[in-house]
Amino acid sequence: MSRGRFISLEGLDGAGKSTHLAWLTAHLADRGIDHRVTREPGGTPLGEQLRALLLEQSMHLDTEALLMFAARREHLAQVIEPALAAGRWVVCDRFTDATYAYQVGGRGLPLATFEALERAVQGRPGGLVEPELTLLFDVPLAVSRARLANGRELDRFEREADDFFERVRAAYLARAAAAPQRIRVVDASRPLDAIQAELAAILAGFGG
Ligand code: TYD
Repeated sequence: MSRGRFISLEGLDGAGKSTHLAWLTAHLADRGIDHRVTREPGGTPLGEQLRALLLEQSMHLDTEALLMFAARREHLAQVIEPALAAGRWVVCDRFTDATYAYQVGGRGLPLATFEALERAVQGRPGGLVEPELTLLFDVPLAVSRARLANGRELDRFEREADDFFERVRAAYLARAAAAPQRIRVVDASRPLDAIQAELAAILAGFGG
């Protein structure tokens, strides 16, 4: 059996990820592609408990980073790797690019630490377990802020100041520029039908 494919979705809070995730899963289902939808931080019972802490509990920045990777280790072992091995696609709402964007870009923590954590958690013989395709939904900060202001109560990350999110966005775009084959930047400030047409084209090129 061939291994499943691994897709992640990224973007600023308020970029519209949830809407695009729903469209993507319906699109894969229409094509008969068996897939597992999951999210980070979270995706396992322990990971969801860590998520609740991460989104609400104040903590040392290093603790935040370590808990992100602790949740990820569990998620890989229990959900992502078994699904891929069974030939299912995995669609993950955020993965390690979010850590580089939020913890390294936003928080300013040292890159080298994260490269080491990434190797420890995702390293396998022959390389890293990582998404083959990452859809980065990019919007200007003002758009993401306006969308968040209309929503529910904000979590610990969403309450950060504008300069934090400017750094997060810049970090995402820099990662995309460094890995343009894997990370596809989608201008998510456009009307939904234009975004969906682009997603369909990207997926067609990816076999989905
Ligand atoms: P998010 O995925 O946006 O969920 P929701 O749509 O329910 O708000 O929220 C997760 C938050 O966690 C988001 O603000 C980004 C943050 N995060 C990190 O800081 N680092 C990470 O590695 C991950 C996966 C998420």
